[in-house]
Amino acid sequence: MKRMRGWHRFLFGLPLILLLTHLFSVKELQQSSQTMEPPEKLNKKFDHLVLGPAAGQGLSNRLQCQGTKALNRTHGSNGRSSLEDSVAFVTVFTIYNSSVNTADDKAIKTEVGSASYNKVERSMAVLNAFINFIKVAMPRSNVIILTDPKSDFSVQRSQVTLYPIQGEYSRDKLMLQRIRSYIAFLDSRHKMLSQRPGNITHYIFTDSDMAVVDDLGQIFHDHPNFDLALTFRNNKGQPINSGFIAVRGTPDAILRAKLFLQDVLRVYRMEYMKASRMLGDQLALASVVKSKPQFDANRFSKTVAFTEDIRGTKVLFLPCAMYNWTPPEGAGQFRGMPLDVKVVHFKGSRKRLMLESWNFYSSSLDIPDMLCLILASGRTKYDF
Ligand SMILES: *[C@@H]1O[C@H](CO)[C@@H](O)[C@H](O)[C@H]1NC(C)=O
Ligand SMILES: *[C@@H]1O[C@H](CO)[C@@H](O)[C@H](O)[C@H]1NC(C)=O
Ligand SMILES: *[C@@H]1O[C@H](CO)[C@@H](O)[C@H](O)[C@H]1NC(C)=O
Repeated sequence: MKRMRGWHRFLFGLPLILLLTHLFSVKELQQSSQTMEPPEKLNKKFDHLVLGPAAGQGLSNRLQCQGTKALNRTHGSNGRSSLEDSVAFVTVFTIYNSSVNTADDKAIKTEVGSASYNKVERSMAVLNAFINFIKVAMPRSNVIILTDPKSDFSVQRSQVTLYPIQGEYSRDKLMLQRIRSYIAFLDSRHKMLSQRPGNITHYIFTDSDMAVVDDLGQIFHDHPNFDLALTFRNNKGQPINSGFIAVRGTPDAILRAKLFLQDVLRVYRMEYMKASRMLGDQLALASVVKSKPQFDANRFSKTVAFTEDIRGTKVLFLPCAMYNWTPPEGAGQFRGMPLDVKVVHFKGSRKRLMLESWNFYSSSLDIPDMLCLILASGRTKYDF
């Protein structure tokens, strides 16, 4: 029991998301009786890369692959340097030394490629891969890591800074603390802007198990009027994924984004503390969004971006299919990967695939080919 607690405590986002996904997959499995693969196979976890046929072949708006060779070259050529505004990524991450104190945690090593990691090293490897992908897709972007002042890690990378925020990082408060940290961060930026107006940096708050594979600065150009952006999917219970939240860097937008998140925090504390602490933030987000009178939730079933004014904040809804793509879990329908995918989310048991993808990219220097690798891996679950 003690060890379990350690495992859940030592790191912020990852194990939590792992647990979360486990819940989702069980639910999805129950819903579908027509699955190609037997459930035992879906639930088996692998310690090596498992590739199968790529989904979506023959569909004109989906990535076409021959093995891990991409036939469509849609990434990397769209004049990214033309966007003037800067964008910074913000993620919450904590690691405690005490979580690897048991002999097991120190001894059990996981091999990925030529590297070997214990639990803590594995989480650090995911964080490093997250940073690596940003450095490729958006080399001028800074990465800001919000963390517990008591956390035991350091990151020696250019353009990466740690930002300690006092709070309650215990297991059952994690998702709550994350929203609090976002609010505290936005508050500090708002104060800074009042001293140095004109220094505009847009912020994208993400989970650290995500690979940014294209320039996201265009969001702020293509949609000039939003304060805060969320990603949506066609899922009745949890239409909003909390892993990606973009905030425009103007003082006004930062203030409105902060007010919106304060509403989410309030709803979370009032309604979702007991119900489900792991899903709480997503349920609270959906609840605030749907509190808008006459909100048309049918739009979540299409993959077209739209904007809504919610309690005074202009909220842009971006499709997960492009900005938070993950293959469907369990037996959900899988129609392949959109050609213009910009962010891949290695939710749940896909962290190994994230590291393998980075290794593949490091030797091929080819994002579309790497996307074929990810696509061919499909719903495979891995050992971490
Ligand atoms: C993607 O590649 C396939 C195979 O080469 C091709 O038929 C299709 O037109 C391409 N789609 C786009 C949008 O370029
Ligand atoms: C915690 O881990 C870090 C990084 O491995 C190390 O530098 C530090 O000395 C450790 N602290 C303690 C108290 O063990
Ligand atoms: C502008 O803001 C960024 C963070 O958003 C900060 O790192 C940088 O130092 C600021 N530049 C100036 C000149 O204030």
